[in-house]
Amino acid sequence: MEATKNVILTQGLTKRYSGDVLALAGVDLAVPANSIYALLGPNGAGKTTTISILTTLAQPTEGTAQVAGFDVVRQPGEVRRRIGVTFQETVLDVDLTGRQALMYHGRLYGLNKTTCAKKIGELLALVELESAADRRVGTYSGGMKRRLELARGLMTEPEILFLDEPTLGLDPQNRAGIWNYIRDLKAERGMTLLMTTHYMDEAEQLADQVGIIDHGRIVAEGSPKQLVEQMGADVLRIHGQGEKTAFLDRAQALPFVENAIWANGSMNIGVDSGNKRLVEIVQIAGETGFAIDEVSVTKPSLGDVFLQVTGHQFRDE
Ligand SMILES: Nc1ncnc2c1ncn2[C@@H]1O[C@H](COP(=O)(O)OP(=O)(O)OP(=O)(O)O)[C@@H](O)[C@H]1O
Ligand SMILES: [Mg+2]
Repeated sequence: MEATKNVILTQGLTKRYSGDVLALAGVDLAVPANSIYALLGPNGAGKTTTISILTTLAQPTEGTAQVAGFDVVRQPGEVRRRIGVTFQETVLDVDLTGRQALMYHGRLYGLNKTTCAKKIGELLALVELESAADRRVGTYSGGMKRRLELARGLMTEPEILFLDEPTLGLDPQNRAGIWNYIRDLKAERGMTLLMTTHYMDEAEQLADQVGIIDHGRIVAEGSPKQLVEQMGADVLRIHGQGEKTAFLDRAQALPFVENAIWANGSMNIGVDSGNKRLVEIVQIAGETGFAIDEVSVTKPSLGDVFLQVTGHQFRDE
């Protein structure tokens, strides 16, 4: 069997901006061909910086990165020929029509007019913008602009597509639509996608592998299922006040407790079965002097994983 080829590979990727901001503190990524990797992290975690380096728009301070087998610093032209990118902030010219914006982009990348026109027709159909193609981008809704961005990133038929926050600020319906396009790009076109997001459900829904990034470091990595399973089958969320440390210590010592952490006014305890363990946990709270206001049993999420590995809540500052 052929070994899985990593089309994105980084080693110790570090980025220091002037003013002594350490945006990336040694990131190692290995993304196999024809997969979706999601970098999930809060504001300022280093997501856009990672994409900027991988797409040759910024240079690493230390470390190396290969994209499609080419070094991003020494062979930027080779890298650029094989990638597409859509940015977090829309870079579309509002005075052009959607069709013109795509044509302009294709021509910039050296495609001839006929090839451009053909591609544009296909892509407008893909992102369902045919009826709005000849309207000014300035008149598009947020969702339409995102879809046009996606089409723009696909103009050059990239092997690898980088998507920086592909559904930022979109409503649920538009997000679901974009998710479907992303899934199709992998399934039908065999693409490899590296996307960033600060939406946990987006990473859970789309990614084969999720890298949770915080303060420029990958703090956990795995399939969404693997990551969540580490947390236990259920999480007991116990709101209340009083003696936390003793409660936490006692809970953590129990064999069926996977992990326990205090955050945002609640004790979050990952257990093998919420219904089975609830009584015992409530009893321990009582014994250790923790007064319970409210208890809920929930399924663990990537948010719980984030909380567990960083010790702080996943929240945008
Ligand atoms: N050009 C720059 N000059 C100085 N500091 C920068 C620059 N770009 C980013 N930073 C800093 O580097 C860190 C990482 O920023 P980055 O944009 O990569 O984060 P992000 O994860 O994309 O965040 P967001 O979710 O807000 O988009 C932040 O502390 C940011 O302030
Ligand atoms: Mg960003």
